[in-house]
Amino acid sequence: MEKNESEKKGIVVIYGGSFDPPHEGHVALAAAAIRQLRPEFFYFVPNFHAPFKEMRPASFDDRAEMIRIAFGKRFMHRPGVEINSYENDMRETVYTWKTVGHFRKIHPDKDLFFLMGSDCLRSFKRWQRWRYILKNARLLVGIRPGFNIGPNEAPFVPLDGIFPEAASTEVRLNIILDEKINGVSPGVVRNIKKKGLYFSRESQMLEKALSPERHAHCVNVARIAAEIAGSRGMSKHRAAAAGLLHDCAREISVEKTKSMKLTGPILGKYRGETVLNAPKLLHAPAGAKTAREKYGVRDPEILEAIQLHPTGAPGMGELAKLIYVADYISAERKFDGVGALRKLALENFPAAFKKVVEAKAAYRSGRNYWSHPLSLELCRQISEAE
Ligand SMILES: [Fe+2]
Ligand SMILES: [Fe+2]
Repeated sequence: MEKNESEKKGIVVIYGGSFDPPHEGHVALAAAAIRQLRPEFFYFVPNFHAPFKEMRPASFDDRAEMIRIAFGKRFMHRPGVEINSYENDMRETVYTWKTVGHFRKIHPDKDLFFLMGSDCLRSFKRWQRWRYILKNARLLVGIRPGFNIGPNEAPFVPLDGIFPEAASTEVRLNIILDEKINGVSPGVVRNIKKKGLYFSRESQMLEKALSPERHAHCVNVARIAAEIAGSRGMSKHRAAAAGLLHDCAREISVEKTKSMKLTGPILGKYRGETVLNAPKLLHAPAGAKTAREKYGVRDPEILEAIQLHPTGAPGMGELAKLIYVADYISAERKFDGVGALRKLALENFPAAFKKVVEAKAAYRSGRNYWSHPLSLELCRQISEAE
């Protein structure tokens, strides 16, 4: 880059992203940008998070605090380094061109750079008004492992070095499953747990509410649910949350669930026969109620998944289907063919779903157990769809 010109003009680096949470990939990229460009201003611009888009979005203030922890005082106290609330203050998703335009207005004469990983470069020419971005700023790119410059790549300034892959989604998943968290500073992890972010509070509450065996089952369901969700391009974090909570009311006594003023599709006009023939099924609507009232879950698809996990129902949503299957094939289940069924769930989910519906129906009829009308209807639909 034209060093003399930049020094004269002063450099501004804009670093936008979720920072949800900030991880070592973010730190490496920003540190390299500071070291190599010595900018006059460096702006972190955490984006706006639509409420309910992700499970328990961390607020702007939470993310700003984690950025301060992850980057440390030495970095954050450098003159010109700032966490900027422009995108968050807009209260809607802000396209990058707007953010670049905003900083161009503030710094009309400076040399503007937009910092990003090379994974974003691939899609850059599909970004809204990407030519406007290039007119007003240069792309400052940290190369990820395995990156090759494509023939139609937008022009960019590469940082020296190779930068680790971004991993916030895996971090959030490991937090909810209470698994080892890599790539995030210990201070950030402590902050997440202290504040109960990313469903870690709910995860800890559930552990206290259930027997160790039941809790282990719920964690297993959450794990396989997340794995299946990943294979289907669905949110792993939401699937894990639904899996974790699906049996949150399983250890409430039948007597108590009968007095809980429950609602939901398996009750309604079927209330009388359900309570008479299979009162244990009440743990599903009781679970949805508990998830909503005690664990603060507002996501209708997660609540539906908890409601329908033992019976299924015609027209059930994709997340509900996923938990229905995950509950049947979780790691501690030992029946013949469970391994093949797990594999099928990852490779051909609709086929696995059908198999589980049929297997549960065969189990009930083999023992002359009562079947819920919604289960019967689901079974009929599945066999007619052939
Ligand atoms: Fe259950
Ligand atoms: Fe279960």
